[in-house]
Amino acid sequence: MAVRSTAHTRAAEMAPEELASLTELLRHRQFPGRHLEIGTAAGGTLCEMLRCFPAGRTPPFVVVDTMRYFPDQLEIVRGNLRDHCLDPAAVDFRIATSDTAFQQAEAARESYDFMLIDGAHKIRYVMQDLRWTRLLAVGGRVCFHDYAPRCPGVVRAVDHFLAGRMNYRRETLAGSLLVLEKTAASATPEVGWTDLLWANLWSPWLQLQASLSKRLK
Ligand SMILES: C[S@@+](CC[C@H](N)C(=O)[O-])C[C@H]1O[C@@H](n2cnc3c(N)ncnc32)[C@H](O)[C@@H]1O
Repeated sequence: MAVRSTAHTRAAEMAPEELASLTELLRHRQFPGRHLEIGTAAGGTLCEMLRCFPAGRTPPFVVVDTMRYFPDQLEIVRGNLRDHCLDPAAVDFRIATSDTAFQQAEAARESYDFMLIDGAHKIRYVMQDLRWTRLLAVGGRVCFHDYAPRCPGVVRAVDHFLAGRMNYRRETLAGSLLVLEKTAASATPEVGWTDLLWANLWSPWLQLQASLSKRLK
């Protein structure tokens, strides 16, 4: 399998307008609480996010990634941070699936002000990632990358989530970067077993569609 180009370029896997929207949000809000990135690739976007804060006032950053995207992924991310004069030791890397890391974060009663969800894009994984919103503070923001027709798993999972939760407001959509605000506390957990089941049932159908459209190209 070919190694992804970002392993070499170490650039953000986001379009310039998406990055601009993300960094404008972080610069403007200066949230003091934990920030989360699910899926970091080479850490290109992570570097851009960390650079939104004045020296010495960077909030805690947690990165969840299985680190199997390309060989030596974690070392490449750390090197990328160092090359941007950022301290890798200041980032809390959790080398795990989003599913496992969520269970640990929930058990530890962690709270977050900001989340960027950009891990696996299949519907069942996006629905699992959406459980993290349970840990999002009121007034916090959750961003989804690849909210676009080319990634139906992301669109369907997020739309399903939004349809049932009135306490989340669409703030902006720049390119494929969707930003939601949590406007009030949730009375029940954001994502329950029925939502996970719903996503698991959709999953094979979306996979079949994806493989058919690849063959027909
Ligand atoms: C699209 S890339 C992230 C791009 C990055 N956010 C950026 O803007 O440059 C997806 C990342 O998600 C990670 N990933 C995939 N499945 C995952 C899972 N189940 N849990 C955690 N991370 C996962 C991959 O290892 C990869 O680093």
